[in-house]
Parts: sequence; structure tokens; C-alpha cells
Amino acid sequence: MARLIGGLGTSHVPSIGVALDRGLRDTPDWKPFFDGYIPAQAWVAEAKPDIAIVIFNDHGNAFFLDQVPTLALGVADRYRPIDEGWGPRAIPDFVGAADLAWHLADQMVERHFDPMICREIEVDHGLQVPMELVFGRPEQAWPVKVVPIFVNTIQYPIPTPERLWQLGAVLRDAIASWPGDERVIILGTGGLSHQLQGSRAGFINQQADRDWIAQIGPNPDRYRRMSRQDYIETFGSEGAELIMWLAMRGAMDAEVRTVMTHYFAPASMTGAGMVLLENLGA
Ligand code: DHB
Ligand code: FE
Repeated sequence: MARLIGGLGTSHVPSIGVALDRGLRDTPDWKPFFDGYIPAQAWVAEAKPDIAIVIFNDHGNAFFLDQVPTLALGVADRYRPIDEGWGPRAIPDFVGAADLAWHLADQMVERHFDPMICREIEVDHGLQVPMELVFGRPEQAWPVKVVPIFVNTIQYPIPTPERLWQLGAVLRDAIASWPGDERVIILGTGGLSHQLQGSRAGFINQQADRDWIAQIGPNPDRYRRMSRQDYIETFGSEGAELIMWLAMRGAMDAEVRTVMTHYFAPASMTGAGMVLLENLGA
């Protein structure tokens, strides 16, 4: 039985990766943001997960608006990081945990989630940036294999918050029923509040972000009950990416311990930060 050792929610803003590529980590604009992830990196180095299940959205890079799956799952052995226009990134390819991924596919379908199955696909900043924030930049290879789960938060209608919570419950049971002995961490990515388009472009809601970071561990039900419109109004049209943290949270026990949090705003045009959760029984 594989073991879920923790859940981590984090921002995935592309300029975070660009800042690292350009050596801006320790500049006054960026240092407070990156320093906030040092304790999480130490936790991960100690906890030594084998596999990261990464729930994120593609941003028109692997899928464009001609074909947008609501839910897709990578079952590949390897995922290349997409160059999104700033140049090729000096990060290794991501090695896939294909056997666990096929098991997740089977268990999702068994529980009436029907993902698009991707044998070959590339991954954009939605996966690249959280991986680097959590694991640092490896010289040769990432310390974990990945299972990428792509959620549509780009093309309306996006899935409901409750649906993502239920997906988390399926992932939780699927991890528990996997006969391997891997240690699994689940990453929910996106957010925090931001809006990149329309008359409200530049919108950030710091109070809502701080509440989210404090409450997603102990008190997630209020966020399950919110509608998609509520997310867009509260967190902005792109801040609605936060629904993907619900799949992470829904995979965890009802009672969790919030191990650490970090919040910083603005990073690019977003409220940014992270939450790390452990099951109380762990
Ligand atoms: C930005 C934030 C995102 O979440 C994203 O996917 C793309 C851009 C930004 O603030 O620049
Ligand atoms: Fe995004």
C-alpha cells in the first residue's frame, strides 16, 4: 500500500521560473517570496517522497482552445518541460510514475471520473514551477517521479469545486489501494488571487488569500460549498485555479495538521504562497 505523506498547495506563476532562470532569486523583489519555501524544501528533504501527484492546469501550451479536456491524466514515462517563450529552461525532464498513473486512471474511471489519457504530453509552468519551488532545481534528475493531472481552469465551464474535492477522495483511495510501497506527496497548484484579463485585470484579494491559507487545512468545507462564480468573484478569473487545491485537500484526512504556510503579494500579478498539510495520524 502506497502512503500519502503530505499535501501541499502552491502558486505556479510562470515568472517565478523566469526569475530563477535569470538569477533574480536573491533580489529584493523575489527573495522574501523564495525564502518562504525553504522550510517546505527542508520538510520534503526529510520526508523523502518517491512520487508527486501534481494537479495543475495547462495554460494553452499542451492543449489549446481547439481541444480542452476537463480532466486529463499523464501515463507517460517522461514529460518534457515546455518552453513558453522565455527560452528553454535548464531543468531536467520529469520522469513519470507510469504504473501508478495507470492505476489512478483505472480507479478514476471506476469511480465515474473519466480522464483523457495522455501517453505523450509536455508540461508547462503549472507543473514546472511548483516542482522547483518544492524540490529546488536538480542538476541531473528530480528526486521524485511525477503523475500529472490536468484540470481545465482556462475554458468555461470549468469543473465545480465539489467535483475537485471528490477527485481528491478518489486519489486518496487509489493511493491506499496501490500495492507498491511508495511514499506519495500530492501537490495542488494555482492561485492565489489574480485576474489577468478584462476590466478587473490586476485584481488581488489579499484578505481572501490569507483566509484561504489559514482555513484550507482545518476548515475546507466553506470552500467546497462555494460556487464557481464565488471563486471568480473572490479570487479573480484566474484565481479560480485554487479549486485544484481542493483535490489535494480532499485526498487528505478530515483532520489535518497545517505544518507550514507562506504568503507573499504581489508576485507578478498574483497573491502567492503555499500551505503544507500532514494527516494527523501520520
Ligand atoms: C500569471 C499567473 C498565472 O497563474 C499564470 O498561469 C500565468 C501568469 C501571472 O501573474 O503573470
Ligand atoms: Fe496559472
